[in-house]
Amino acid sequence: MEISALRNPFDYANPVRSGDLFAGRQVELSRISYVLDQAAPDQPAGYIALHGQRAAGKTSLLNMTQALARQRGYVTARLDLVPADADPVSFFAKAYEAIIGAVGEAVGLTASDGRKITPRIVRRVMHGEKQDDFPLEFPESVAQAWAGGRLSEMALRADLEYLAEQAGQPIVLLVDEAQLVADRKDVLSMLRTLGTQLCGYVFVLAGTTDLLVRISEVFDALLRQFEPIKVEQFNEVADVHNCVMRPLRSLGLDPHDCFEDFHGVVQDLMSLTDGNPYEIQFFCHVMFHRWQSGVTSKMVLSPGTLDSVREVMEAGGQVQDRPLISAVRKMSVDELVALNLLCSSLESSTIDELWFSHCITGAPSISREAFDGFRDGFVAKRIVEIDDGAVRLPGDLFDHIYVRLWTLNKIGQPRHPQLVSRYRFRALLTRRLEYALEDVIADQPVRLLSTCCYGMTQDNLESCLALLDTLPDSAAESARIQFLHEAIVRCRFPAALDVTVVECTYAGTTAVRWLYARDVDDIELTELPAFRAACERARALGGELRAERLRLPLKPWPDVRDWLVKHAGPVERNAMAGCHLTESFDVYVDGDVPATVEHLSTAFRFEPSWIAANNLAYLALVGGEPTSALDWAEKSIALTDEPKTRALSRYNAAMALVKLGELAKARQGLAEAADDLARLPVPDYFCRFLLVPHWADGGIEFEEKPRVNLPGAIETALDMVGLIERHASMRRSTE
Ligand SMILES: Nc1ncnc2c1ncn2[C@@H]1O[C@H](COP(=O)(O)OP(=O)(O)O)[C@@H](O)[C@H]1O
Ligand SMILES: [Mg+2]
Repeated sequence: MEISALRNPFDYANPVRSGDLFAGRQVELSRISYVLDQAAPDQPAGYIALHGQRAAGKTSLLNMTQALARQRGYVTARLDLVPADADPVSFFAKAYEAIIGAVGEAVGLTASDGRKITPRIVRRVMHGEKQDDFPLEFPESVAQAWAGGRLSEMALRADLEYLAEQAGQPIVLLVDEAQLVADRKDVLSMLRTLGTQLCGYVFVLAGTTDLLVRISEVFDALLRQFEPIKVEQFNEVADVHNCVMRPLRSLGLDPHDCFEDFHGVVQDLMSLTDGNPYEIQFFCHVMFHRWQSGVTSKMVLSPGTLDSVREVMEAGGQVQDRPLISAVRKMSVDELVALNLLCSSLESSTIDELWFSHCITGAPSISREAFDGFRDGFVAKRIVEIDDGAVRLPGDLFDHIYVRLWTLNKIGQPRHPQLVSRYRFRALLTRRLEYALEDVIADQPVRLLSTCCYGMTQDNLESCLALLDTLPDSAAESARIQFLHEAIVRCRFPAALDVTVVECTYAGTTAVRWLYARDVDDIELTELPAFRAACERARALGGELRAERLRLPLKPWPDVRDWLVKHAGPVERNAMAGCHLTESFDVYVDGDVPATVEHLSTAFRFEPSWIAANNLAYLALVGGEPTSALDWAEKSIALTDEPKTRALSRYNAAMALVKLGELAKARQGLAEAADDLARLPVPDYFCRFLLVPHWADGGIEFEEKPRVNLPGAIETALDMVGLIERHASMRRSTE
């Protein structure tokens, strides 16, 4: 694969613009969609505030908000504030110009004499030029305000009403870096009065963490109207996974071909970057660069990678001038462990909470006395501030990334690093509990139940259990049902499932996780020595670790399956389909073809997908059923727009056609497949398995081969089709 010629797809310097590259944020996007859906020309204005730390992904989310608004046919106007825009005249003048531009572009704006109204003309009026027959009032009011008069709110409102009427669709004003106006009462109060009187507008403000705090201090009357959306680090491994995968996919690369160990890297990135999308992109950028320049043979997250990341930071960002970094570079291993531990839940957890969550996964490498001693030292040297129990680490994101990297470089890669992080205590405790359980069950036939998030509760789970117990004839309202489904599938449909509820409580906070196993394995967690040791550690520190096992007899699988297919909601269907797909690979590798077909067909029933249809086509092809293979292959072609996958389906369809003796159609399909691939920067597509034709004894035979590169296989197949055609015509001419 010619990798050096590709552009590096990981861009940590610019916000995400394309939906294809945007990862995670499902909950946030659905809340934004909800507000947008409420908007209508006769509905009062809506307000959204996207707020979060620097580089958390606010501008990227604002870009997606704009895309969602456009998808709905709304008019969108965009404003990126700079410090000079903070006074009301500049702010509203700029916002107004943006709206004029957007409405003008959408529907065309003309004065009564037919002249086009553009932001340029508006700007000229704002600077004092007189225009006759001008239907708008506000630009003149701006001109007067600049000459020392007052800005007319009425003129602005009248114009905005006029513009909304012209647009005929809601107008969405998106403002980035909105913290710049957050402490301006004059701006905020005008924004609010406008909002209460105007219809058909949505105001979306994106800004740093203090956006809402400042608004509430300055003008809390406005705050009540906002839908506040906090932009935080990614909490789920799946989001990190997507964040890494999507840029590679945009180049037509399969992440499994790019990484030595894709899933392992995703796991490591999660803790290494604290789930921060900026850092994920940054690390991936460096890994990709090292691969491209031939330093590594694939993308790897090794100590060498971390050094390169550090070098990039050192080259660009005055490392020497930063007090935190200079201090950290002089620290011993124990000090580094203590500092990271102390800062592993910034501004959220108490010292005792931090220590407890640390010890739950195993005996600590430093004593509590040593930890306290280091802490006092850090505070005395002003490396860390502790204010009313809350730990603060001065410095910015850059410093914090550097601290994590330096630490890992010094202490090696520990199994469960507890690094600088902004997780809140419950999330921290849940993650540490998960780590502890991973160790406890390491050699046991037990697994951790997947969950939606660290916030999933026992009640959520119980409502799912009740559904599976009764299979009622109504919608499966519980959105968590997919996790139990996964447990049943991965245990390969046992008669009963053992679910162990594990709760860890400290200082009034409880974290909960679940384990599952087949009843026949009869695992009792409380009897495992490693679990007892963890309970002991928790008790010694004044906390508690409890486990309770529930045995759940299951209804026959076909009944459960049919019920889920009929009643589950769209998100769950997608997850359940994915689970059957994963499982289909495992059983295929075990050689169980009927079970593979069953999993794939079930996946397709949950959600028709290219991959299920294509794999069913392939199995039918290998199993000597070309008619069924052709049918599935045609279904799969219709289910994808991706050149690579479409080419593969076309190839499979062509092989079925060859088997059915339809050579002309097969040739056409192969040519189309070759065409699909020819347009890609990297046409290589290594397929796990492929049925490849070859010539033997005056006829075609097929052979299943692992890891075949599709472009080559298409060429070979075209040659073979040519051979058969020539062979047939030769036979005809000799007869
Ligand atoms: N949802 C996302 N998916 C993938 N990458 C993201 C996402 N959000 C942010 N990023 C990455 O993080 C970086 C910072 O994001 P940005 O939106 O500019 O943050 P902010 O506006 O909060 O400072 C971007 O350059 C991008 O690489
Ligand atoms: Mg930004």
